[in-house]
Amino acid sequence: MTSTVTDQRPLRTAIFPGSFDPITNGHVDIIRRALRLFDGIVVAVLQNTAKQPHFTPEERVEIIGEVFAGEPGVQVDTFDGLLVDYVQRKQATAIVRGLRAISDFEYEMQMGHMNRRLSPTVETVFLMPDEAHTFLSSRLVKEVFSLGGDVAAFVPPAVERRLQQTREATGGGPRVVR
Ligand code: PNS
Repeated sequence: MTSTVTDQRPLRTAIFPGSFDPITNGHVDIIRRALRLFDGIVVAVLQNTAKQPHFTPEERVEIIGEVFAGEPGVQVDTFDGLLVDYVQRKQATAIVRGLRAISDFEYEMQMGHMNRRLSPTVETVFLMPDEAHTFLSSRLVKEVFSLGGDVAAFVPPAVERRLQQTREATGGGPRVVR
């Protein structure tokens, strides 16, 4: 006789926090990997950052929404304040962060331990992107683009389009946003 096991576990959501200014193919790769482990991913764009951003948080949310359009497993949001408070508000199980190289490790360990101290029940899960993306960062993408380089291989088409639009709007000059 066969028996049926009903899967009654609660849905597991992970928060993928970051600046995403802009989202790169490395971030997209991490989100796709995280989707294999969790039922849903919330891409959480940090609202207030000391860094001088290229895109406003609202623009970043729009762009990420465009990249994952039609994928109900991926939500996009902004957050402010402590990440662990946001994780609890969303009733999420874990924080997902990408680890590209040893150089990321120290900063990520520090944040992971601090977040664990602040909220012991929230786990941080580190995922490695495909090795093709290990050199990628939002900062380098912006630098290459601002100097006239081709970034099509490093970002989703929606990001490249937006970068082009901002270049046309500023006539190639710097873009100042809040
Ligand atoms: O993509 P980034 O800029 O490396 O992301 C950093 C981020 C947003 C994950 C981090 O700055 C953060 O969590 N900020 C929220 C404030 C907070 O909770 N600080 C204490 C964490 S140790």
